[in-house]
Amino acid sequence: MSSVATIKRKVIPPHLEVKGGHQLSGVLKVSGAKNSSLVLMAAALLTKETLLIKNVPKLTDIEVLSEILLNLGAKLTKRNNSIEINSRCIHNAELPYQLVHSLRASFFCIGPLLARLGEAKIPLPGGCNIGARPVDEHINGLKALGAEVVINNEVVSAQVSTKNKRLHGANITLKYPSVGATETILMASCLAMGKTTISNAAREPEIQDLAKMLNSMGAKVSGAGTQRITIKGVKTLRGTSHSVIPDRIEAGTFLIASAITRSPLIVGPLVPNHLSAVILKLQECGCSISHHGNHYLKIIPREISGVDITTSPFPGFPTDLQAPFMSLMATAKGSSKIKEKVFEKRMQHVNELIKMGACISLEQNTAHIKGVKELIGSNVKGGDLRSSAAIILACISAKGNSIFTGLDHLDRGYEKLEEKLSNAGSIISRKFDQKTSQISFSNKKFTEDNIDTQKNAA
Ligand code: EPZ
Repeated sequence: MSSVATIKRKVIPPHLEVKGGHQLSGVLKVSGAKNSSLVLMAAALLTKETLLIKNVPKLTDIEVLSEILLNLGAKLTKRNNSIEINSRCIHNAELPYQLVHSLRASFFCIGPLLARLGEAKIPLPGGCNIGARPVDEHINGLKALGAEVVINNEVVSAQVSTKNKRLHGANITLKYPSVGATETILMASCLAMGKTTISNAAREPEIQDLAKMLNSMGAKVSGAGTQRITIKGVKTLRGTSHSVIPDRIEAGTFLIASAITRSPLIVGPLVPNHLSAVILKLQECGCSISHHGNHYLKIIPREISGVDITTSPFPGFPTDLQAPFMSLMATAKGSSKIKEKVFEKRMQHVNELIKMGACISLEQNTAHIKGVKELIGSNVKGGDLRSSAAIILACISAKGNSIFTGLDHLDRGYEKLEEKLSNAGSIISRKFDQKTSQISFSNKKFTEDNIDTQKNAA
């Protein structure tokens, strides 16, 4: 019997190679907020006039929503980080399934389409796999505004059947201060007849950014940023120019990058009030944070100790920074407890951090962490957007080399992350379609001669 060995060529998808353990220095620059940009782009459907949105990050989520708007008949012009959108000729109230499925924010189109055309047909949305993510609160809100809504084969069909096809104002109380539901109702009610109130509204900065842009389009929104928003409906909205707020989640990720690499950094532009809960926790665990001009923060990490966090809606500790903060706690002195209270499946980073030597035990949505001296580089994978960021922070601080796969998640929400980190001193680079050879043996006594190379084996 002859000995056989095979070389399988394994294709590694695009990935990051990271040489960990390097200090960072200088400034980490924050882009415009992804979650603001997405809803502001959908709001362009509310007017026939041109909207200019500035400081939009270049991300795949923005690309997908751009495709969806084009598909509806809008015209888009992109220049650097600005997008001009004109929705005068939208001819379609039905969103394409393929695109909607990869982007939860596509559901934002339902409110503006209903308000403008009196109808909308949108498949139930996809997006990050972090929990069930129902849309019942969006739908209840739209029904209260007078829409008839049916869900058939995972497609939501909504219409206003009155003669003038206009929604009407209503008093709506949300069961939970959902960001998306608040945004949907806010956009839909701008063009409704009469007054709408949203009680138990979400207070996130992205809601305030949306209300600010809607008001500059001629809407009459007050109370955004509080638990009660009032909207007096108007007949039409006009075009405007608006600059997106800085991304508080990217800013928080960079502050944590400083803490985890124990490197003093300047981070901005940002709005400190948008990050109060995060700043408090970073100070509590051992970082000194001070203003550096109006829009930047200077962070100097000292010895990092374990602190507990529980996520909650704004102004509480943001769920989107729970995973990055856990990477930090993995190397803190002492223990900490992290409770995820917003989404039910947002702990995908835990196993990857454990692979890197972290000491974490998970009890449903509560992680108990015992800090270790250092993490060790490994082959790791991001399972959703924020867990990807968390794992990359772990990689840049770890001892040794790491390979990170899961860039499709990362590219949805962080603009040029590896470029920004490497400009600040991390050794991190993106590699494409690299093939590595793995030799597997069916018999110990193989010789070089009978190696069978399977070039195309995946
Ligand atoms: C937004 O999601 C963000 N996405 C999320 O960002 C962010 O994590 C989240 O708000 C919380 O801050 C965008 O803005 C595009 P929610 P959203 O409605 O609107 C439940 C990221 O990584 N709920 O406030 O979907 C829901 O299941 C992401 O950038 C209902 O029960 O969040 C969840 O448990 C991911 N019924 C909770 O509310 C509903 O109708 C909060 O969800 C709606 C929500």
